[in-house]
Amino acid sequence: MEIVWQQTTAPKAKPDPNGLGFGRVFTDHMFVMDYNPEHGWHDPRIVPYGPLELEPSTVTLHYAQAVFEGMKAYRTADGRILLFRPRLNLERLNQSCDRLCIPPLDTEFVLRALKELLRIEQDWIPSAPGTSLYIRPFVFATDTILGVHPAQTYKFVIILSPVGSYYPEGINPVSIYVEPEHVRAVRGGTGQAKAAGNYAAGLKAQKAAKAGGHAQVLWLDALERRYVEEVGAMNVFFKIGGEVITPELGGTILPGITRRSVLELLRSWGVPTAERKLAVDEVFEAHAAGTLEEAFGSGTAAVISPIGRLAWRMQVIDINEGRIGELSKKLYDTLTGIQTGRLPDDFGWTEEV
Ligand code: PLP
Ligand code: COI
Repeated sequence: MEIVWQQTTAPKAKPDPNGLGFGRVFTDHMFVMDYNPEHGWHDPRIVPYGPLELEPSTVTLHYAQAVFEGMKAYRTADGRILLFRPRLNLERLNQSCDRLCIPPLDTEFVLRALKELLRIEQDWIPSAPGTSLYIRPFVFATDTILGVHPAQTYKFVIILSPVGSYYPEGINPVSIYVEPEHVRAVRGGTGQAKAAGNYAAGLKAQKAAKAGGHAQVLWLDALERRYVEEVGAMNVFFKIGGEVITPELGGTILPGITRRSVLELLRSWGVPTAERKLAVDEVFEAHAAGTLEEAFGSGTAAVISPIGRLAWRMQVIDINEGRIGELSKKLYDTLTGIQTGRLPDDFGWTEEV
């Protein structure tokens, strides 16, 4: 399929790379493609970034038949553009589509389209330390009918946003609130898909955590409210007695690509790891026993975010005295080093645009 390009007539000024924050400014162009049963995915085009026109009856606005991905493009010191394990994101996008009854995308075609969009927008990729170009591909149903059933028509869009760190804290440790009441996902639900509705369902708890001075919520399992699952926008790891433990992928948490990369790095360094059920009491008991050494979250937006404080019911603990742990720092430096081409890519994780 040929990708049509309609160039903007009103290019925008690039933002100050030092005050980017996360997902606030968008580049000049976006990629769009449509689906209907007669033509499949068709009409791929790169057009000026701007509003999408939708009828009020568009089903996504009512029933959230929508999924998304999050990736980044990085600028190397010698001016190249790198993607990090992009095929894993596109495979996960198709798994999310499958869960939400959305027709799959041709991942190789989408990768080609993404690279074409990135070449057009390459001047938007920031190069300051800790910055990158965030890539947000998403798919949503466009039928205009109020019956609840899988739609016949869809739109796939990729937008780009130059970003700094996800948390205002940057690489400094964040405070996390262990959510005692609300739950994010239950087995059989949509927890392992990157479904738009998952994030809406988490907002109420997140709002309460923010009001209490915490950055995000740590979700517990829905059945017993006992086992650690993940944080709002990242997977979690706890280093206890020399071993790095992360919750197993049981269908309720997102199979993070950063999570997978962290496990692969740790194993290559000979650090003991475990993917298993981890009760929140075990974390607090380890702290009391002096064996909870570090905690951190992992994600594309969050990169490696050290957790400096955990609050659960009436207990508040500081981890590693609220400072970034040695291993968390090594993981952050290694991951960002590979992503930006500063370190050799021994795993073959990066792909040049
Ligand atoms: N968990 C949730 C709920 C997320 O939204 C994300 C972000 O994508 C992650 C975990 C981390 O996944 P990844 O490392 O693939 O970005
Ligand atoms: C990402 O890390 O790419 C995400 O999708 C997290 C997002 C909800 C901000």
